[in-house]
Amino acid sequence: MPVKTFHTRSANVIEEIATKSYRSPGALSKQLYERASRVMPGGNTRHSIALAPYPIYARSGIGCRVTDVEGDERIDFLNNYTSLILGHADPQVTSAVTRRVSLGTAFTMPAPEEVELAELLAGRIPYVEQIRFCNSGSEAVMLAVKAARAFTGRHKIAKFEGAYHGIYDYAEVSESPKADEWGESDAPGSVVEPGTPPGVASDVVVLPWNRFEACRERIRSHKDDLAALVVDPMPLGIGMIAPRSGFLELLREETARYGILLIADEVLTFRLSYHGSAHAFGIQPDLGSFGKIIGGGFPVGAVGGSRQVMSVFDHTGSLKVRHGGTFNANPVTMTAGIETMKQMTPEAYSRLNALGDYLRERLARIFRDRGMPAQVCGRGSLFLAHLSGEELIDFRSLCGFSRNSPVYGELCHQMLQRGIILSPRGVFGCLSTPMSEGEADAFVNALESSLTKLTM
Ligand SMILES: Cc1ncc(COP(=O)(O)O)c(C=O)c1O
Repeated sequence: MPVKTFHTRSANVIEEIATKSYRSPGALSKQLYERASRVMPGGNTRHSIALAPYPIYARSGIGCRVTDVEGDERIDFLNNYTSLILGHADPQVTSAVTRRVSLGTAFTMPAPEEVELAELLAGRIPYVEQIRFCNSGSEAVMLAVKAARAFTGRHKIAKFEGAYHGIYDYAEVSESPKADEWGESDAPGSVVEPGTPPGVASDVVVLPWNRFEACRERIRSHKDDLAALVVDPMPLGIGMIAPRSGFLELLREETARYGILLIADEVLTFRLSYHGSAHAFGIQPDLGSFGKIIGGGFPVGAVGGSRQVMSVFDHTGSLKVRHGGTFNANPVTMTAGIETMKQMTPEAYSRLNALGDYLRERLARIFRDRGMPAQVCGRGSLFLAHLSGEELIDFRSLCGFSRNSPVYGELCHQMLQRGIILSPRGVFGCLSTPMSEGEADAFVNALESSLTKLTM
């Protein structure tokens, strides 16, 4: 099937093509979704990629472009939710993985690749002396929390209201509480997800992002029970609102004061620098959780930290945390991770992050030129624009508009029609190394014409 390349056509033609394909009555995506809905609840197996009225089914991807099952091509600014830093089907990753697959994909023995990827990561992340692999970021967060509990002999964790850390019961607490569940602004309530035992709430201390005194006080008052504080230095769930100057340092200081471990959740933000996001933000945590880009496009997770803390997993010593997993460190994922990490040199990060600066600056300029209240968050290769002029400081300040507005779903469809893949939940996206200014410009141009169509 021939591939239709959107970004080379005028906006009107693009819309016409897109309407005829993905949203047309006989669209293959529509048919697939009807079949999916019969055998999967909601026709979906991953809520984070749900799209109304139905998803676009992917056929293939190469570089920064994805072709859907109708044969339409778009520039991918989501990259499997930030996990593909080299874009799709990178030739080096593909050939290394293909070679590896032909030699067998999983064994009841370790394979040399796990040693190499562990060495590569420990060599880059300043606070990681030892590391263990698992299969998702959620597992990585869970393992970090368990390690902290075992190491400190305490049971509670602290986390930020609105922050997403995957689907472990404790990490999910107050990930998306409704306004009537919030409680005090300085002492947010602990809200468990449906299906989670209510007792979990009492073991999670919820903190308000960027509120110095409230955090200091919450940490102090739970100091004897807190095993760890989990923090993503630039949390997507809190709109990538940057930590205020000194905020992460305060968390480091207060946790260290009481022997509470600081866990940096770098699953998404590890792509910010060669040394990871904790380093980019200038903090030295005790443990980190990793995922996404380190698997080079395959399922992955990892927990890492100092030798002393990681010793809780050491079965040759005083083992405290059991850690199995049939596909942990499988050589296919490890191979893809090695090839990806090798390509992500300091120079590759500099180039990608400079492109991120360029895109954020262009976005800020179009909002300014249009006199539109908006603010552009993000850093490095990550961007998130809020179509709101309100002061954004924490989760609650986002809820007035940025977290709930249906305008983002509409905008996503406008962008899809113009050949751009963007989240339906915000002007959120990321860059990949095959991109250049041409793709960033295509994004900005598509956004400009999409904004004129919105019913805001
Ligand atoms: C910060 C953060 N932590 C944890 C996770 C969970 O990772 P996974 O989806 O691989 O389970 C995610 C996923 O988006 C994330 O963004």
